[in-house]
Amino acid sequence: MSDEIPQIGLGTWKNKGQETCAEAVEAALDAGYRHIDTAQIYGNERHVGEGLQNSDVPNDEVFVATKIWNNNLKYDKSGKKHHDDAYESALRSRDLLNVDTIDLLYVHWPAEDYGDGTLEALDRLYDEGVIENVGVSNFTPELVREAQRKLDAPLVANQVEMHPLLPQDEMLDFADDAGIDVVAYSPLGRGKALDLPEVQDVAEKHDATPAQVCVAWSIERGAKPIPKSENPDRIRENYGALDVSLDSDDVEKITSVDERERLIDPGFAPDW
Ligand SMILES: NC(=O)c1ccc[n+]([C@@H]2O[C@H](COP(=O)([O-])OP(=O)(O)OC[C@H]3O[C@@H](n4cnc5c(N)ncnc54)[C@H](OP(=O)(O)O)[C@@H]3O)[C@@H](O)[C@H]2O)c1
Repeated sequence: MSDEIPQIGLGTWKNKGQETCAEAVEAALDAGYRHIDTAQIYGNERHVGEGLQNSDVPNDEVFVATKIWNNNLKYDKSGKKHHDDAYESALRSRDLLNVDTIDLLYVHWPAEDYGDGTLEALDRLYDEGVIENVGVSNFTPELVREAQRKLDAPLVANQVEMHPLLPQDEMLDFADDAGIDVVAYSPLGRGKALDLPEVQDVAEKHDATPAQVCVAWSIERGAKPIPKSENPDRIRENYGALDVSLDSDDVEKITSVDERERLIDPGFAPDW
């Protein structure tokens, strides 16, 4: 698998059912997706692995990303095995996913035991080839810079919430300077962005659907969206965003929506 993060990924949060999750992954690969996003906390890494196995698409053509959960961020260099150790939990994720290497491993949140030890564990996983790329998620620019300074391995991406209600202008500019990708989570605003009149107008203009417009808007702004669906028709529909080309007026119209809302803001979130 190349280092390049594919343009669109399949999100899998809340897709916990063994069949629905494996089938969604299979449907996505069939539709053309080559990037699947999961996390330890989603409880579905095993089902994602089943979908990868069931698909005709060879595993080494698929970019598989997962995330270390907040209570697995310690690192014990003594070599003792702990369930909640960043290094050990990554090995467990690799087993559950049933892949040779994890293409991208993120720190899910800069929370709980996140610290220098976490980054050392990531460097070790990278050096040993357990993971191909290191990423972070829900990091502020300052936290990204700090992680870049401390890591030996390159940091390739920050996965953050981004949709028409939270356009993330500053993060996109920062990512450009820092040489990292922005992976856009909740790119449909968890469904909320689909009802915006601006999104609907642009959809009508392009004979596309509101979901396709949200995904195309993310791509046009340089991010890598990972829309989640467990419905094969909507999985295909969202991938169809690649055929929708928005012009600068369309992008501007959506980016300047008045309403603003951050949908994911738990108590352990950083000071955004
Ligand atoms: N790093 C993080 O902290 C973090 C946080 C949140 C999310 N994520 C990742 O980002 C992924 C996407 O974000 P998300 O799941 O929060 O939200 P999202 O992708 O913005 O929206 C998903 C919702 O939209 C619906 N939907 C999907 N396609 C649709 C379409 N074409 N038309 C109408 N409705 C549609 C889905 O329902 P159906 O399934 O029924 O189609 C689901 O209810 C997650 O699954 C996860 O992998 C990461």
